[in-house]
Amino acid sequence: MRWILPSFLLLAGADALLRPDGVGRAPALGWNSWNAYNCEIDADKILTAANEVVNLGLKSLGYEYINIDDCWSVKSGRDPTTQRIIPDPDKFPDGISGVADQVHALGLKLGIYSSAGTTTCAGYPASLGYENIDAEAFAEWGVDYLKYDNCGVPTNLTDEYTYCVPDSTDGSFFPNGTCVNLTDAAPAGYNWATSTTAKRYKRMRNALESVNRTILYSLCDWGQADVNDWGNATGNSWRMSGDITPYWSRIAEIANENSFLMNYANYYGYPDPDMLEVGNGNLTLAENRAHFALWAAMKAPLIIGTPLDTIDTSHLTILSNTYLLTFHQDPAVGRPAYPYKWGYNADWTFDPVHPAEYWSGPSPALNGTLVVMLNTQDTTQTRTAYWKEIPELEDAYAAGSRGFRVRDAWSGNDLGCVRNKYGVRLGAHDVAVLVVGGSC
Ligand SMILES: *[C@@H]1O[C@H](CO)[C@@H](O)[C@H](O)[C@H]1NC(C)=O
Ligand SMILES: *[C@@H]1O[C@H](CO)[C@@H](O)[C@H](O)[C@H]1NC(C)=O
Ligand SMILES: *[C@@H]1O[C@H](CO)[C@@H](O)[C@H](O)[C@H]1NC(C)=O
Ligand SMILES: *[C@@H]1O[C@H](CO)[C@@H](O)[C@H](O)[C@H]1NC(C)=O
Ligand SMILES: *[C@@H]1O[C@H](CO)[C@@H](O)[C@H](O)[C@H]1NC(C)=O
Ligand SMILES: *[C@@H]1O[C@H](CO)[C@@H](O)[C@H](O)[C@H]1NC(C)=O
Ligand SMILES: *[C@@H]1O[C@H](CO)[C@@H](O)[C@H](O)[C@H]1NC(C)=O
Repeated sequence: MRWILPSFLLLAGADALLRPDGVGRAPALGWNSWNAYNCEIDADKILTAANEVVNLGLKSLGYEYINIDDCWSVKSGRDPTTQRIIPDPDKFPDGISGVADQVHALGLKLGIYSSAGTTTCAGYPASLGYENIDAEAFAEWGVDYLKYDNCGVPTNLTDEYTYCVPDSTDGSFFPNGTCVNLTDAAPAGYNWATSTTAKRYKRMRNALESVNRTILYSLCDWGQADVNDWGNATGNSWRMSGDITPYWSRIAEIANENSFLMNYANYYGYPDPDMLEVGNGNLTLAENRAHFALWAAMKAPLIIGTPLDTIDTSHLTILSNTYLLTFHQDPAVGRPAYPYKWGYNADWTFDPVHPAEYWSGPSPALNGTLVVMLNTQDTTQTRTAYWKEIPELEDAYAAGSRGFRVRDAWSGNDLGCVRNKYGVRLGAHDVAVLVVGGSC
């Protein structure tokens, strides 16, 4: 099958998923039911979230997708006549279309969930083999976003080889990001875009493209089958790791993995380090801040995952940070922030406990450069941004500029003209976010 490679590469550009009206151009902003409620969902909870997105001012900040995750349908099977998945009449008495109408009436968009297998992760009917039927139903119901999971895959449709995802437990060994002792690794030069996993995701991509509705396509294959290679040609975002949990250790682990994938992120296609846990578990305020700042800087889809009717004001404030959201949605620059220095570690060190600490990225919409400084340690530390080290300031620095206008993105305070460097004391797992503007 290797002979397919050259023709695939020729087609790669034509394959790219480009949506009308700028849908999927900037990373998605929204809310999803899973991290808040798991399987315990109904129309009331979805519509409460939608109303809160409006009431809390999140809609005016750009949050727009209200996404229903797993467990929305009748578990026992499809409609015998139409072959469609049946919305659970107890949870969704007006169907998904009834919820969609009300979400649309609020000026928001509705998302749904399925899997590239025969069942979802919670065991409900999924779309493998029914891609066109399901895409048509979703379009007819008024769905605007599909999260497509990787559960329920029949054994004859699993991949021939195993791809090393750094955090998986498939026998790979990844203390530093290097995979060893994988018994069924692909031969050198293997083209993962021809894997059965890629094919399962492309079937739904084609089905979504064939319906008369723009549906943002969010791949959730947990980073498997080298999805970074074919994700952008297939969907608008693709999960690059296993699931997030509301613990700092897991957030740091995923941030470390995604920090090496920033070259894959740009308009219309983003590696997805999973939905937000801001407001959940035992995350400290500092950890909530750092989680949100890193996800925004990496231009991850920012999908809130906490109950909004009971959200703490301090968590809402984090999710509402206009500087980070402006950077994230910048209409003129698609690339995310990149680490410019690892800090705690030597540059390019793969360390699940201590991800890169110094990040920067250009943002015309901010009139400057976003600079993020993270303390990955468990004790209070000083982190210092030296202007001469920040790539976006290099030219001005070389031309003799030593002072730059700085704003603290958390307090909103104008720190004035700061010369040479800006140092800050940061508690465990806390983050500083600066907007560095013109020289002064
Ligand atoms: C996989 O197995 C199922 C039965 O379990 C069968 O219906 C299907 O055609 C098989 N698919 C392929 C690609 O062999
Ligand atoms: C990763 O660690 C292994 C085992 O210690 C070592 O052999 C390998 O060279 C390391 N790779 C990198 C890229 O540091
Ligand atoms: C890899 O396999 C070799 C040979 O079986 C073994 O000695 C080594 O401990 C394994 N490494 C890891 C990290 O499991
Ligand atoms: C596609 O949808 C639009 C908007 O709902 C509608 O105006 C148009 O007639 C539809 N086109 C087809 C071919 O069904
Ligand atoms: C992803 O595809 C889109 C649409 O073709 C393109 O604009 C973008 O640059 C691609 N991303 C990367 C990182 O190549
Ligand atoms: C949160 O829980 C994890 C796992 O039990 C624990 O390791 C961690 O220290 C806790 N963090 C805080 C801030 O309590
Ligand atoms: C950027 O500059 C423009 C023009 O001076 C101004 O309208 C806009 O508010 C500034 N944006 C920010 C985020 O400071």
